[in-house]
Order: sequence, then C-alpha cells, then structure tokens
Amino acid sequence: MKLTDNEKRDVIKYLEASKPLPDKYRFLLFADKQEVELVWNGKTSETTNVVLPFQIIEQVDEPRSEKEIRLQTSLFDLDVRGRQLKGWTNKLIWGDNKLILSSLKNGPLRQEIQEQGGIKLIYIDPPFDVGADFSMNIEVGEEEFTKKPGVLEELAYRDTWGKGADSFIAMIYERLSLMRDLLAEDGSIYVHCDYRVSGYLRLVLDELFGKELIKNEVVWYYQNGGGRSTTWFNRKHDIIFWYTKSKNYVYNGKAAGEKRNTDEGSFGGYFKTDENGRRYQEVRASGKIYKYYVDELKNADDVWDIPIISQRDLTERIGYPTQKPEVLLERIVKASSNEGDIVADFFVGSGTTLAVAEKLGRKWIGSDLGKFSIHTTRKRMIGVQRELAKAGKDFRAFEILNLGKYERQLFIGINPNLREEDKQKQIVQKEKDFIALILSAYKAESFDGFKTFHGKKNSRLVTIGPINLPVSRLFVDAVITEAVEKQITKVDVLAFEFEMGLFPKIQEEAKDKGVDLTLKYIPRDVFDKRAIEKNQVVFYDVSYIEAKPIVKKGMVSVELTDFSVFYNQDSIKEVEENIKAGGKKLVVENGQIIKISKDKNGIVEREILTKKWTDWIDYWAVDFNFESKKEIIRVKNEKTGEIEEVWTGDYVFENEWQDFRTKKKRELVLETPSVEVGKGKRKIAVKVVDIFGNDTMKIIEVTI
Ligand SMILES: C[S@@+](CC[C@H](N)C(=O)[O-])C[C@H]1O[C@@H](n2cnc3c(N)ncnc32)[C@H](O)[C@@H]1O
Repeated sequence: MKLTDNEKRDVIKYLEASKPLPDKYRFLLFADKQEVELVWNGKTSETTNVVLPFQIIEQVDEPRSEKEIRLQTSLFDLDVRGRQLKGWTNKLIWGDNKLILSSLKNGPLRQEIQEQGGIKLIYIDPPFDVGADFSMNIEVGEEEFTKKPGVLEELAYRDTWGKGADSFIAMIYERLSLMRDLLAEDGSIYVHCDYRVSGYLRLVLDELFGKELIKNEVVWYYQNGGGRSTTWFNRKHDIIFWYTKSKNYVYNGKAAGEKRNTDEGSFGGYFKTDENGRRYQEVRASGKIYKYYVDELKNADDVWDIPIISQRDLTERIGYPTQKPEVLLERIVKASSNEGDIVADFFVGSGTTLAVAEKLGRKWIGSDLGKFSIHTTRKRMIGVQRELAKAGKDFRAFEILNLGKYERQLFIGINPNLREEDKQKQIVQKEKDFIALILSAYKAESFDGFKTFHGKKNSRLVTIGPINLPVSRLFVDAVITEAVEKQITKVDVLAFEFEMGLFPKIQEEAKDKGVDLTLKYIPRDVFDKRAIEKNQVVFYDVSYIEAKPIVKKGMVSVELTDFSVFYNQDSIKEVEENIKAGGKKLVVENGQIIKISKDKNGIVEREILTKKWTDWIDYWAVDFNFESKKEIIRVKNEKTGEIEEVWTGDYVFENEWQDFRTKKKRELVLETPSVEVGKGKRKIAVKVVDIFGNDTMKIIEVTI
C-alpha cells in the first residue's frame, strides 16, 4: 500500500473524528479493485449461506396410459398406474429465492442436481417495477377483482424494491452471485430486463461473471406491444443479457436459428435452385461462394422480432401480467441446453420457462415468492403434462416444495449496514413490537413465561407466527408439545400464511392430544392504525371443505359438496363512503365478494357476486391413497457429514386426479371418476385451491 505520510495522517484524522473516509482512499486502500465498478450504499460481496430444509407438499404426475408405460420405461421406472417411481423429479419451489438459492447451493439437494450434470441454463426475468406483480386480477363471473398482495409478499417487496434502484441492485446482486455458484461449469445465464435497469445489470453481470464472458446483449423487439408516445420514441424492446460461466459452453445455433429471408434483394447475392429443386441463396464474398438453403434455419441475429402475447390471445395468455411468450423462451432453451439438461428460472411467474423446458425434454427447477404464481404454474404444468400424454410423448413428474423451518434472524426490514450486535438488538426490538401490535389488534393480553405462547384471550392461549415466513409444521408441532406439557387445552395460532397442506391434518393431530387448535389469518390491515382504532380488524379462519366418498362395486369416487372461506379485503362501510358517483368497487367481506356501486344520484347498491360456494374454487385435486408416499428428505448428518434420507413424519399429496378453471374452461367438475383402489380401509385426501391461490386439504376415511 503506497500511502504517503500525509495521507496516513489524514486517514487517522478522519478515523479519530468518526468521519467517513473520502472516496479516493477506497482506491488506495483496497485490493482487487475493478477498472469499472458499480457501487451502491451497503455493497458487500458476502452472500447468505443458510440452509433450510425443503418440504415436499405435493407430487404431480399425470397417469400414463398402458402404451405410454411401455414407451417410457426407458426414461424411468413407472408403477402400474403409470406414475414415475424413480429418476429426477422436476421442482417448483415456493419461497424467497434468496433462501432457496442458498439452500440449493449449500444443502443436500445440491448433490442430486450435480448427479444430473448441474444446472445448465438459468433464465430470469426479475421484477423491477414491482407493484403490479403481486396484485392479481381474478375473474369473478363477468367482473374482475383485484386481489391485493399478501402481507408477506408486500413486506418482501418493500424490503427489496421499495427503497429505489440501489435496493433492487443489492437484491439482484446477491441472488446473481448465488446463481453463478450454482450454475454448471459449462452453463449459461440469461437475464431479462429493460432500459430502466439494463445499465446497472450489465455492470453487475460483468463483475460477477467477467466481462469477457458476455455472449450477447439480445434485443427483444416487439412491434405489437410496449408504449406509444408523442414525447419520445416508442419504447418497444427489452434487453436480455447472455453470460456463460466459462469459455466452454453449449450453443446450438442451428436449433435456435431463424428462417432466412426469402425476399429478392434482402441479401447481397442471388437465389438459385439446385438439381433436387431446393432453393438456396448464393453469396460471393472474399473470392468464395457460399450456399445457404432457404429451408434451413440460419444462426439468429441478436435482435429478435417476436410479438408479445396479445391481450386477445386465447391459447397462450394465462392472465399473469408479466407473462413472456413461449417462442422467446424456446429460442433460449434450444440454444443453451440439450435434452435431459436442467433448466432453472428463479422468478418463475406464470411458468413460461418451465413449460417450454418440459415440452423440449429438459428437466427443470422453478421458484417464486408469490403463492398465486406457484398455483398458476402448477395448473400450467399439469396442462403441459396432459398435452404431452395425449401426444404420446415423454414427460416427468414434478413436485411442489416449500422451505420448512424458519429463522427469526431472517426477519424483514433490518438495516443491513448495522454491526452484528446492533442488528441483533434491532431484531429483538422489532419482534417485540410486532407481537405487541398483533396482540392489541386481536384484543389479547400479553402473557410471559412460555416458550411458544405470546398472549391470552379469554380462555385461549395465543401464539403468533413469524412475520416473514409461513407457519410451518415444525412451528405448530412445538406449540402442541408445549400445550400438552403444560396442560393447555385451547390454543389460537395467528399467522399471515400457513404452509401448504398444513391444515386440517394438524388440527386433527392436536385434537387427538387433547388440544383444541384454531388457525387464523392475520389480516393485512393490522398495520393500519386507523383500522385498529376503529375496531375493523377481523382475524379470519382458514377455509373449510366438505367432500363425500361414493363407494360402488369396489370402486370409489369423491364428490365435493361444500367449501367456505372467510376472507376480508377493504371495508364495505369505508368504500361506500368514499366511492365516487358513477363508480364501482369490489370488496371481500367474510368470504363474500360484494360489488358496491354508486349511481349519479349518489345511491349506493350492493351485489353479492359469489353466489355459490363453487365460485370460490379454482382448482381441486384428489389423492385416492393418501399416506402411501412418505415424505423423505435428505439431510446432512452433522456428526458424520454424510447425507442421509429421513422421513419427516409427513406424507406427500400425490395429485392423482384434478380439475380446474382456465381462461377458456370456466366450469368445474364436482365429482371425480370412479377409481379402483383395492379392498380395505384407506385415507383419501382432497385438496382445494381457492381463487386467491390458497390451498386447503381434507382427509376422508373409507372402507372398501
Ligand atoms: C416479471 S415476473 C416473471 C414472469 C415470467 N417470466 C413469466 O413468463 O410469467 C417476476 C416474478 O418474480 C417473482 N419474485 C419477486 N421477488 C421474488 C423473490 N424474492 N423470490 C422469488 N420470486 C420473486 C414475482 O412473484 C413474479 O412472479
């Protein structure tokens, strides 16, 4: 380090006065400085290394016909019903991709991924103008209802994007760094963005991957979309950066190519026809003659003229605001991966990358923070499986996973620039404030002296789930254990989200141990002081299913007979007061969607849109032999360092039959076909996903 005596004195002066050092010292004092570097407040090259266990919530595998079973045994073992027994299972993971990436990178799933050759291709399309990404437009009859984001989604949004460009860069930098580490040595990454962040991302990617490893800055040009303007040129392109992890990478230029232009005069040569009648372009350059057949694809340019999916499209559009066209992803997947390779998208949205990967015979991993995205993708992938099954083509089973255990340290909203001990203090304080807030909104008193309980309301003890993660099975197990130990018989668990598939099984288990367990959602307006003061905060119950098994001649079918939800969004009274004459708004109150409209004379009308219980259902599925597939996870044995397979005590819901609404098909079938299941006592699991994307499960017992 070459500091002059003067500079040394200068540095000491600043340090003694507790003042920040001037910028020039950054370049004088630190090693590894980049020639060009993007710097932002709080930049650090440290990445999280937490490992949370993945829990399998559901397995989806469209049964194959006998013919397909014969065809597909080469790919993997199938059972008698044509369901995949062995081999790679595709993965759709619900949760924050930072924790998912870190758990994939550092946890036991890494080995499974490596055994398949690693992740060969990552495509991401991260949201940078996020607001709209978590609000969802849901069709209710003729009307469209905008569901506001869940509290967890909103908190994540506020933490990562709400604070401007540097928070976006900080969030993407850490995730890209984890993705780089996960990528196979000959892998590729494609990062999709637009003019608002492309400049920042270019520098970040140069830094993480090396500027010599950029392959293309692809311009996706869409003539039929984007903005129309009179104050600047129409904005009609996005940017997709393609980087590779090393100089050794996959590029299938021909497979991902484009048609040659067949217009006369569109290239510097002539059209000719060979002896077999095939047309070709003849181009003479540098004394050589080049021959290009018109029916062969040419290596594509880096400007891709591909239409966006139009508003009126009826085949591909799913109703996800940022859905990208499959043609765009097809080019990327074909160019940078081969059949059987793993392709990943950690901001999966409506599942475009996964749908394309499956259709092109690739394996896949996808993740998203939004529950609605996971549900949309589940439906889409079932559609792809059905399509492939019908065409007699191969497809793989997929599973839906989430991150089980939570860690309080991952609390949202902590200032990342604080020192570790101050961070811990802030966490403790925030947690206390949060619990006090929820208890006051629930009108419960605070209560000390327990490991898992926070308060008391009348004769029931109250426990509050973590602020930033769904309540998991492990969490509720700890609550039940303490209740049993201390002879507590009535417990309310309050949470923003519950892990998929948690209830009602957990309540039944608690009941068997003498604990009456109620699970309630914390409404989003707990953060609204006025709502608390006005007594408007309603904690609503988790939903409820009724289903009936019908046994005939040794066969069984299931009929869905009732379903209720207890959601609330906005208050009728407030909307009625504030709505303008001639306006309308949809409100949800205690599980009813109500349209409120005000005519020109100020007369208010209410109309209930959810007339039938079925209006709340988007999707339902049945596992005719629940508890036949144990949930086995791989964990590292801390003593031996070996990876071991252990049973979590839970079972995987095997999605054997399902029906759901799509844009085109609005009606639901309410009874499954009859299925042969074998004699004896058995459990059937019925899962319902409501139009907000939340799951509920019910287990029924039958004897055949
Ligand atoms: C622009 S959309 C992706 C659209 C997708 N390419 C498609 O074709 O449908 C971005 C997605 O990133 C998800 N997302 C945002 N933050 C996330 C996070 N921290 N972890 C995982 N997913 C996240 C959002 O829920 C949203 O679905």
